[in-house]
Amino acid sequence: MVAKGSKRVLPKVFVDRSAIHGEGLFAGERIRKGRRIIEYKGEKIPSGEGTTRSRDDEELTYIFTLNDKYDVDGSMNGNEARFANHSCDGNAWVDIIRNRIWFIAERSIAEGEEITIDYRLQGDELYECVCGAEQCRGYMNDADDELMKKVETRRDKRLA
Ligand SMILES: C[S@@+](CC[C@H](N)C(=O)[O-])C[C@H]1O[C@@H](n2cnc3c(N)ncnc32)[C@H](O)[C@@H]1O
Ligand SMILES: [Zn+2]
Repeated sequence: MVAKGSKRVLPKVFVDRSAIHGEGLFAGERIRKGRRIIEYKGEKIPSGEGTTRSRDDEELTYIFTLNDKYDVDGSMNGNEARFANHSCDGNAWVDIIRNRIWFIAERSIAEGEEITIDYRLQGDELYECVCGAEQCRGYMNDADDELMKKVETRRDKRLA
């Protein structure tokens, strides 16, 4: 519990070159499972605008879905959280707490380890993944999305 008005103490994190893509977010100390890591900060924008902004810059997206009405654009007034890369076996998950986006440790994260999220991207496009995880799906899309199910079916047919 953190008393009302007092500041929550968050673990140390830093941004550095990533083996996955460009720069990534790293643990500056051991982070135990279940601990809040960092808030994903940025400009709150209507969802439609988020889609347009991410298309303007096809290469990189810093748009995070807050709810069905709003996204958060980490490239505007954002923090280190915007550098978190995707992994199909992410070690942190995203929780929306009182309309704020938080990264939570899914398992214990070692000091110096890259902090990764399963982006679970939605929509009508596939986004290739190079996370290198043993169970990499090949795409950063949501495993439960219709598009991913089609990919899985095609892959199963090829292997049959
Ligand atoms: C929020 S940025 C992450 C920070 C980024 N690495 C940087 O240097 O600014 C998200 C973008 O990073 C890239 N990315 C992150 N994880 C990836 C992955 N597993 N495979 C391929 N590209 C990835 C994609 O271009 C994605 O749009
Ligand atoms: Zn992957």
